[in-house]
Amino acid sequence: LVLVVDFGAQYAQLIARRVREARVYSEIVPHTTPVAEMLARRPKAIILSGGPSSVYEPGAPRVDADIFSSDVPVFGMCYGFQAMAQALGGEVARTGRSEYGRTPVTVTSAGTLLREVPTEHRVWMSHGDSVVAAPAGFDVLASTAATPVAAFEDLDRRMAGVQWHPEVLHTEHGQQVLEHFLHEIAGCRPTWTMVNIVEEQVEKIREQIGDKRAICGLSGGVDSAVAAALVQRAIGDQLTCVFVDLGLLRKGEAEQVERDFVAATGVSLHVVDAQKRFLDALAGVSDPEEKRKIIGREFIRVFEAAEAEIVGDAASHGAKVEFLVQGTLYPDVVESGGGAGTSNIKSHHNVGGLPEDLEFSLVEPLRTLFKDEVRLVGEQLGLPAEIVWRHPFPGPGLAIRIVGEVTQERLDILREADAIAREELTRAGLDRDIWQFPVVLLGDVRSVGVQGDGRTYGHPVVLRPVTSEDAMTADWARLPYDVLETISTRITNEVREINRVTLDITSKPPGTIEWE
Ligand code: XMP
Repeated sequence: LVLVVDFGAQYAQLIARRVREARVYSEIVPHTTPVAEMLARRPKAIILSGGPSSVYEPGAPRVDADIFSSDVPVFGMCYGFQAMAQALGGEVARTGRSEYGRTPVTVTSAGTLLREVPTEHRVWMSHGDSVVAAPAGFDVLASTAATPVAAFEDLDRRMAGVQWHPEVLHTEHGQQVLEHFLHEIAGCRPTWTMVNIVEEQVEKIREQIGDKRAICGLSGGVDSAVAAALVQRAIGDQLTCVFVDLGLLRKGEAEQVERDFVAATGVSLHVVDAQKRFLDALAGVSDPEEKRKIIGREFIRVFEAAEAEIVGDAASHGAKVEFLVQGTLYPDVVESGGGAGTSNIKSHHNVGGLPEDLEFSLVEPLRTLFKDEVRLVGEQLGLPAEIVWRHPFPGPGLAIRIVGEVTQERLDILREADAIAREELTRAGLDRDIWQFPVVLLGDVRSVGVQGDGRTYGHPVVLRPVTSEDAMTADWARLPYDVLETISTRITNEVREINRVTLDITSKPPGTIEWE
C-alpha cells in the first residue's frame, strides 16, 4: 500500500492511478489525517501531492514532520516537494518567478530518480515559490530557468521529490520518474494485478451475502455491468438484475445488455420496457434541466416498481432480498469524502404494499477501483468488448443530445447518425484514443441543402469527439480528416433527414462535453 496524501488539489486521484499503473496498490488520504493513523496502515511509501501554489499562502496545509522521521519512504510533488523541503530544513523562497504549464527542465545529475531521463525535457509546472536550497543530505538533480532546485533525492533516507507534476500526461517521462521512486528508491514490488482482484472480491462477496438474495440495476454502462458480473460469479442466481430500457440508449445497446451480457454471464435479468412512458413524459419539453429532472424522477419510479416486484416475488418464496449491488468507483468514494466502512441506503417503496422504508445493505465490489481497472476486471470476467470498452454515456442518454424536444422521430435520426460515427471511429481503430464521441442533433435548427436535384431543409448534427482523462477537463479530438470525411459523407447519404455535419472544436472549459 502506498498512501497519497491529498493537499486539496485535483491531482491526488491522478497520482493514485499512476501508482497503480506502476502495479503498486495505492489509496488517497486527506492531509488532515494524523500521521500516526497513516503509519498504522503500514504504507510502503507515502506520496505528498500538489496543492496550493505556495507554502506561504495563509492557511496552507503543513506537513507533520513526523512523516519524515518514520522510516517510510516519502516522495513529494509540486507543493508536496516544497513542503518536504521546508520541513526538512531546506529553503523555500518567494522568488517572484512563477512557472505554469509546460516548462523545460535540465537534469544536472540524474541520480536514481532521473536515471535515463533525457537531460533536457519538458514537464508540467504550477508553482509560484521555489526551493532555493535542498535540505542537508539531499542531492540536487535538476533545475529550471526559475528554480535552482527542481528535483532532489536522499537515497539513505529513501526520500525524493520533484517540483513538477510527474502524474500529468503533459510531463515527459513522468511515469518513469514515479516508477524509479516506487520500485527502486522505495522498494515497492509491482504485484498489483486484476487477476487477484477478481478472486479476492468473489470471496468477499460470498462472505457478505451468504445465502441471501441481491438485486442490481444495469444501466448499460461499464460499471454496473462489471459489478453485476462479479456478484454473479460469486453468488450465481441469488442475484437478479434489473434493466430499465428508457428508449434513450444508442443503437444496439439495449440488445447488448439483454442478449450479450446475459450470454456472457448467465445472469438472471428482469427487463422493463419503459420506452413509451419516457417519451410521453418528455413530450413538449426542451429545457435541458427539465429533461434531466423528468428522466430522473421517472427512472426511480420504474426502477422501484421493478424492484418491489422482484422483492415481493422472492419474499413469497421465503427468500428475502437484502442486498443492493452498485457500481460505485473509487473516485466517487474519494469525492464523497469517504474511506473504508460500510454504508446503508434506504430505498422507498410505495408499490405493492411493501414496507415504506425497506432497507438494503450495499454491495460495492468496485469501491477501490479506478475506471481503467474496472475495464480490466471486466475483461477478466469475459464480458464482451463492446461493453467493457464502451465510452462513458450520460444517464439521461440521447435525450440530452437532442437540442429541443425529444421525439421518437428525432431519436431514430440521432441513433442512425450516432451509429455511423461510432462505426467509423472503431473502423479507424481510434476507440481507445477518444474519451467520448457524442453526436448531437440540433432538433430545432434547420438549414438549406441540396441533395440529388432537390432543395432540402434538414437538421444539422454536431460531432463532438473529445479526449479526456476524467471528464473534468477535455479537449476536442483532432480526428484525422479522412475519418471525419467518411463520417460526414455516410451520415448525409444514409440519414435522409440530416443535410449538414459540423464539428465542435471547443475544449472544456469553456464548453461542457455534452451540449445540454
Ligand atoms: P459534461 O457535459 O458536464 O459531462 O462535460 C461530463 C461527463 O458526465 C457525463 N454526463 C452525465 N452523466 N448523468 C450522467 O450519468 C448526467 O446527467 C450527465 N450529464 C453529463 C458526460 O457524458 C461526460 O462523460
